[in-house]
Amino acid sequence: MCGIVGYVGPKKSMTTLIDGLKRLEYRGYDSAGISIMNGKGVETRKAKGKIAALEQAISAHPLDGNIGIAHTRWATHGPPNEMNAHPHTDCTGTISVVHNGIIENYGPLRAMLQKTGHTFTSETDTEVLAHLIEAAFDGNLEEAVIDALALVEGTYGIAVISAKDPDKIVAARKGSPLLIGLGDQPGEYYVASDVAAILQHTRQVVYLDDGEMAILTRTGYEVCDLDAQTVKKGVSRIDWDLDQIEKGGFDHFMLKEIFEQPTTIQNTMRGRLVPDEGFSKLGGLNLTKEELQQLDQIVITACGTSWHSALIGEMMIEEHARIRCEVEYASEFRYRNPIITDKTLCVVISQSGETADTLAAMREAKRRGAKTLGLVNVVGSTIAREDDGGIYLHAGPEIGVASTKAFTSQVIALALLTLKLGRLRNMSVVKGREVAQALEELPGQIQSMLDRAAEVEKIAEEFVTATNFLYLGRGYNFPVALEGALKLKEISYIHAEGYPAAEMKHGPIALIDENMPVVFIAPHDSVFDKVVSNVQEVKARGGRVIALTSRDEPALHGKIDYEFRIPQTIDMLNPVLAAIPLQLLAYYIAAKRGLNVDQPRNLAKSVTVE
Ligand code: AGP
Repeated sequence: MCGIVGYVGPKKSMTTLIDGLKRLEYRGYDSAGISIMNGKGVETRKAKGKIAALEQAISAHPLDGNIGIAHTRWATHGPPNEMNAHPHTDCTGTISVVHNGIIENYGPLRAMLQKTGHTFTSETDTEVLAHLIEAAFDGNLEEAVIDALALVEGTYGIAVISAKDPDKIVAARKGSPLLIGLGDQPGEYYVASDVAAILQHTRQVVYLDDGEMAILTRTGYEVCDLDAQTVKKGVSRIDWDLDQIEKGGFDHFMLKEIFEQPTTIQNTMRGRLVPDEGFSKLGGLNLTKEELQQLDQIVITACGTSWHSALIGEMMIEEHARIRCEVEYASEFRYRNPIITDKTLCVVISQSGETADTLAAMREAKRRGAKTLGLVNVVGSTIAREDDGGIYLHAGPEIGVASTKAFTSQVIALALLTLKLGRLRNMSVVKGREVAQALEELPGQIQSMLDRAAEVEKIAEEFVTATNFLYLGRGYNFPVALEGALKLKEISYIHAEGYPAAEMKHGPIALIDENMPVVFIAPHDSVFDKVVSNVQEVKARGGRVIALTSRDEPALHGKIDYEFRIPQTIDMLNPVLAAIPLQLLAYYIAAKRGLNVDQPRNLAKSVTVE
C-alpha cells in the first residue's frame, strides 16, 4: 500500500508534502519521492529508504513551487530503489505521476509504448501511466488522463501534474483510496491516499469513489467521472484523531489487518486466476513447464506462522499435484543434511523476506542444486532478491507483529501454486474449476465472518483469565490448530498448544479438566466424523469446548459449549476461513487482558538473527 499526497494553493508546497509523507510512514514503505512545479517545469527528487533520505536529496538540490505531488512506496513491482521510487515521469520529464495500486496489464502496455518509441527508466508498473498520459496528451491534462486510464486494467489511486498544463493536479481512483482536502485558504486543495497525510491542514474532505476523477486548481476543484461528466460530491468532516486514522479507526493494527483480509486475499489472487480453465497464471515462477513437470520433490521451508502455512501447502500439493512434498523448519533444515537434487523445488515462505533462518535455509538449498521459489510479502526483500522465482503475496504492509493477513495470503499463494502444478499433471479441468471457484468465494465468506466478529468477542470474554488452551484439528485443520495456538500465546501470553485431534489419546488428554478450554476446528469436511469422537473424549473429561463448525451438526449437540459458524468451502481452503475467528479470538482475549497487541513482549516483526 503506497502513500500519496498532493498540494495546490498559495503556500510553498514542499514542506506540506514532506510533512504529509511523514504522516504516512506508519503504512510501511521502502522509498519516497516528490515532484514540484517550479514555474519552469516539473522537478523531481526521489530516494530509497526513509523520508530523511528524501529530505537530504532535496536539501542538496532545493525545490520551490506551489503545486506538487509526493509518494511513499511499498513496492509491488520492482525492488525498492531510487529508480523505482515514485513519482514517475514521461519521456520528456514534463508529466509526473504517483500511484497506489496494481496495473495488471502493465506488461503489454509497456511493450506497446516501447514499440512507439517511449523509453522507460524503471521496473515498475506505474511508469506506464506517465507514458500513456504523454501519448494521449493534446493540451489538456485531465482529458489525457481519461484516455490513458481507459487502457488500464487493475487498481489505481493516482495524482498527476504536468508542466504542459501547469496549474492543476489531476487525481483519479479505481480500487485504491483517494480523497480531496479543502484547505482553509481560498484556492487551497490537497489530494491524499489517506486522511492522515493532510489532517494537520484540514478536516474537510471529499472522498472519491471508483471511476471518479478530480481536477484541483487555485480557482477551485471539480469532480467528474471518466466520461468527463461532473459528479456532485458531499464534503465530509473528519472527527478522528491521527492515532485512530493510522489504524483506520481500529484499536490496533492487528485488528485492522484482520479486517483487511477480504481485500488482501483478493490482491493475492488478482490477475492470477483463470477460473474458466481452472488454472493459475504465475508470472514470477521463472520455471518452464517442463521444469515444473520434471520436479520429483518439493521442500517447503519457513518459520513460525509461515511454517504453518507451509504444512497446509504440503497437503495441497501432495493431494492435488501428486508431488512428494516435505516441510522443514528453516532453523533445522539449514543444519541438516537433506536430500536435495536438481529436480527439487525449494519453496521458501516468509512475510518479511528477511528471516535469518529462512534465508540461510534457502541458500543451503540453492547450494545443493535446488530451484528456489519465494512466497514473500515484502517486495525487494533479501529472500525475494535471492530466490530463483517468486510469488509476491501483495498483502500490503503487515504492521502487527502477530501475522494475520500474511498467513491467509500465503495459503492463497500456495493454492495458486497447487493449481498451477496440479493442472500440469493430474488435476482435471473440473477439479481446477472447483478450486478456482472456491478461491473466488473466499473474500465474501471472510467478510461474512468479520461482520459477526462480536460473536467471537463474546466467547473471548469467557476466557480472559484462562491459563491454558488446546487447539485441535485434523487434516488441513491441524496446521490451523497450530496457528490458532501461536496467535493466542504470542499476544496474550496464555500457554496454548495445537495438536492433531486424534493425538489427544496419546498423552495430552491427561491435561483435560474443567479448566482446560479446547478449540476444535470442525468444519464439515472429509474427517469431520472422526473429530466428533475427539470432542466426546474431551467433553467426557469436563473440558470446555469451543467449536468452529460449518453447519448445524446434530452429532455435536450437547457436546460443545461455544460455537462459531464458518462458511462451507473445499477442504484445502478451510484454513483460510478457520483462521479468521481464531485470529479474532486471540486478539480479543489479549486486548481484554490490556496487553500490547501490536508489539507483544519479547517479539520482533522480523527475526533477522539466528
Ligand atoms: C507470526 O505471528 C510470528 N510473528 C512469527 O512466527 C513469524 O511468522 C515468523 O517469525 C516468520 O516470519 P516471516 O514470515 O517474516 O519469515
